[in-house]
Amino acid sequence: MDTASLAQVRGWLQYARRIAVLTGAGVSAESGVPTFRKAQTGYWAQFRPEDMATEEGFRAHPRRVWDWYQHRRDLLAGVQPNAGHAALADFQCRHPEQFTLITQNVDGLHQRAGSTGVLCLHGDIFVDCWLDSPRTCCHIDHAVAGRPPCCDGCGNLLRPGVVWFGEPLPYVTLQAAQKAARVCDLMLVVGTAGAVYPAAGLAQLARQAGARVASINPAASALDDVAHALLRGTAAHMLPALLAAA
Ligand code: APR
Repeated sequence: MDTASLAQVRGWLQYARRIAVLTGAGVSAESGVPTFRKAQTGYWAQFRPEDMATEEGFRAHPRRVWDWYQHRRDLLAGVQPNAGHAALADFQCRHPEQFTLITQNVDGLHQRAGSTGVLCLHGDIFVDCWLDSPRTCCHIDHAVAGRPPCCDGCGNLLRPGVVWFGEPLPYVTLQAAQKAARVCDLMLVVGTAGAVYPAAGLAQLARQAGARVASINPAASALDDVAHALLRGTAAHMLPALLAAA
């Protein structure tokens, strides 16, 4: 563990009035949740994003896509938040006014660890919504069971409540995340490749607004140049080491 960088970021943490944290799939890796872009084991090494994470892909093969999200939901039901999730939830508990947690993850593990008010930029895998604008006949509770379930009135399909490629992020959530990035003194970027926008742009926004940016990632990411400090380690090790005493 690079103790000098850790001490440096701890110093920034001590004096920061407002802290924003942006997390990605890496924060859930040590819970046994695959990331997206890891060679061989990442979801996008096994499937084409355009097949599994676009509206077109879902319309073309609704059962295949629905089954894949159901498989992910089942996997998530069998895992637990890790020490990284817990360290963030504990820190928020001790510093509720100073802290904003922004995540790209749809897995709900931050919330299961006790984090509150999490800004979920890419939605929630455990929430369903209608594929097409709902009509008066569309009631999620009355949806006809199936893969995917559908409206018995008009056949409208249910889809996972996640943000797919090419879709806008939830407006209010993105606004709140951008505000948190602009006003923070320190942004921790944890477990993201920094490949997907507008989420990755939050780190640039924070830096341009004068904040310190620190990246926690065992490997290089596209946000390394935006970061003032790189903590090369895993979330479940680095976050407790960084936040426990703060
Ligand atoms: N601790 C911290 N970081 C880790 C760990 C770990 N234990 N394991 C892996 N990482 C890092 C990887 O080095 C990589 O940089 O986490 C990052 C994961 O990157 P991606 O798989 O690309 O996931 P993410 O950046 O969250 O993807 C962003 O892309 O596919 C879409 O919507 C999806 O929200 C997702 C978005």
